[in-house]
Amino acid sequence: MKPLRVGLLGLGTVGRGTVDVLRRNQEEIRRRAGRGIEIVAAAVRDVGRARAWVGDAIPVTDRPQDLVRAPDVDIVVELIGGCEPARELVLDAIAHDKHVVTANKALLAHHGNEIFAAAQKMGVMVAFEAAVAGGIPIIKALREGLTGNRIEWLAGIINGTSNFILSRMRDTGASFDDALREAQQLGYAEADPSFDIHGTDAAHKLSILSAIAFGVPIRFDAAHVEGIADLAAADIRYAEQLGYRVKLLGITRRTPAGIELRVHPTLVPAKRLVANVEGAMNAVVVKGDAVGATLYYGAGAGAEPTASAVVADLVDVTRLHTADPEDRVPHLAFQPDALVPQPWLSIEDTVTSYYFRILVSDRPGVLADIARILADFRISIDAMFQREPAEGENRTEIIMLTHEARERDVNEALRRIEALDTVLAPVIRIRQESLS
Ligand code: HSE
Repeated sequence: MKPLRVGLLGLGTVGRGTVDVLRRNQEEIRRRAGRGIEIVAAAVRDVGRARAWVGDAIPVTDRPQDLVRAPDVDIVVELIGGCEPARELVLDAIAHDKHVVTANKALLAHHGNEIFAAAQKMGVMVAFEAAVAGGIPIIKALREGLTGNRIEWLAGIINGTSNFILSRMRDTGASFDDALREAQQLGYAEADPSFDIHGTDAAHKLSILSAIAFGVPIRFDAAHVEGIADLAAADIRYAEQLGYRVKLLGITRRTPAGIELRVHPTLVPAKRLVANVEGAMNAVVVKGDAVGATLYYGAGAGAEPTASAVVADLVDVTRLHTADPEDRVPHLAFQPDALVPQPWLSIEDTVTSYYFRILVSDRPGVLADIARILADFRISIDAMFQREPAEGENRTEIIMLTHEARERDVNEALRRIEALDTVLAPVIRIRQESLS
């Protein structure tokens, strides 16, 4: 059988990884896919640089608009990232009857619904395993392996850069800036690292996972997003003393009132496996009603781990190329006419536990005042300690863990606590999840 012909948009880190993996494992891949997979063209911004790397093996152009329409291309692999021109090129490829494989989480988070609708209409596939958690086959697991379950929630470390920074800060006491620089040197960070440290990249990935888990359209705009840029080393240390690790988690949960979709630093009990995921590694915990909790772990970025997911998608597309479109796995796991929009919960309606760090004057009655306000809002204290003030110092920090409370109540209680004249700074608050 003739090989399937691939056009690559982008020959950066992941593009080169894809070329290398396809070349190195071509025999194995042919045996799995039933036919060869051949890269017949690549479109790049800098043709000279690409030719210097690839030689004559792959024809290179700087006209991606031609590649997505080329009659000798069956599958377009989009690895350029960002929303434009990626959206336009992907839609054009679909309109020209090409299947698409993409690693572009921002594109799918913002325009996935439009892209999948266009693909459905044309009867082509859009595969995107590489868009979430790099080499971990989490899309495959959710879309296929867990289809017998009603998914209850999932929580993931899905931004390797943030996890790397948090690990370095905890292990070596490195400053946030030094750890970020190191992550950039190692190639984990996005071109714009603010997407990593402010939680945007994790929220892109989470909104895709949430849609597949619950059979809802992708709603990036419904996500509550906080990053790690404001985390202090002191909180990482105190959390440790209380038996917790601080992780940037993406959490999506089905509740009777609607779907939670949130990314924020989170205290996780140190005994949980996911709390021990270090460096740039990613992990996702998925809780299904039948299977219980399952954990998926691996490299979330990097040339070959991401290429592993791209090539797996190429094999899938190759196998299903001739299948009736109605018989393929639906893009978002549920049949397109069975995607049901749900209410998305505002963060104020979220119920979770909290860590507070409160800087106070070291005077009688301070703790009683704080405890009274918390009691007024039905916020129950789970654990607490007070840092011993240094010699001659008349201020100290109270560290508290609470039982579950509604965020709206917590916000109001903290406003009142911060208004006390014995409370000297805004209260530091980090949400806590038991993930049990
Ligand atoms: N910047 C991303 C991360 C790369 O740190 O996880 C993979 O999406």
